[in-house]
Amino acid sequence: MAAEPPEPNQQEPSAVPVSRLVLPEPAAGTVHYWSVDIGPGPGGRGVLSEDEQERAARFVFDLHRNRYIACRSVLRCLLGRYLHASPAELIFDYTPYGKPEITGSRIRFNVSHSEDRAIIALTLDNAVGVDVERLRPVQDCLGLAERFFSGSERARLAALPEELHNEAFLNCWTRKEAFIKAIGEGLSHPLDTFEVTLVPGKPARLVSAAGLADPERHWSLLDLLPAPGFIGACAVRRAGVLAQPAGVICGWD
Ligand SMILES: CC(C)(COP(=O)(O)OP(=O)(O)OC[C@H]1O[C@@H](n2cnc3c(N)ncnc32)[C@H](O)[C@@H]1OP(=O)(O)O)[C@@H](O)C(=O)NCCC(=O)NCCS
Repeated sequence: MAAEPPEPNQQEPSAVPVSRLVLPEPAAGTVHYWSVDIGPGPGGRGVLSEDEQERAARFVFDLHRNRYIACRSVLRCLLGRYLHASPAELIFDYTPYGKPEITGSRIRFNVSHSEDRAIIALTLDNAVGVDVERLRPVQDCLGLAERFFSGSERARLAALPEELHNEAFLNCWTRKEAFIKAIGEGLSHPLDTFEVTLVPGKPARLVSAAGLADPERHWSLLDLLPAPGFIGACAVRRAGVLAQPAGVICGWD
């Protein structure tokens, strides 16, 4: 069976076995994102490299080990389909801050996981970062915003009606994480040196970033729909990028 990624912005991607996917490269200006259920267990362990198996062995809890194995296995299988390569033979390089990449490939990707849900985002040529979080009540979100958000983000959050605080906080959090993961610096990048939109129902945008005039000419921030009960965001270093939900993966047979 050949499964083509559906039209952009489709809300309900269908489940497909990863081993049977035929995957064209993402078109210029699009990011494919896959929603992955990493709950079912550690199938696919056979494709992990030695260092990944060592990392898996270091987890204290089976739950976390199994999710890691599931996520890495699906990442390898998906990349293998895009790159026409054997999943086990792919070699990841890591930036000084730990971002996995495949040197020499035009495919750029990033991964995020929250509990038993993972998101894998892929695009061509441009740096990409992704974040997924479970939708949940956040205790003391104004206090957390004081620690992590920029002054204007804090002000805009505090000005919203209280019933919108939680959603606005998670919007801001996932968009900021996606941005720092796209630039690859992770939490080493000061979170108060750039500003994203957060008001529920309003589009995701990078409003400002230190040293960058007119950030929207260089960056796209996108809301993703990972699965019911989860919220996601993606950042791509290119203007006008479209998010294309490519499928839901529940296993790798
Ligand atoms: C990257 C980071 C933001 C991840 O945040 P998180 O919310 O805990 O985790 P997420 O589920 O969203 O993302 C984890 C995935 O992001 C990827 N990742 C790891 N480091 C990354 C980085 N610096 N930038 C982008 N992506 C990264 C990995 O694929 C990882 O998945 P894995 O653990 O299964 O391999 C955070 O761990 C971080 O800041 N790390 C950098 C630490 C650092 O600066 N170290 C300094 C070393 S000198």
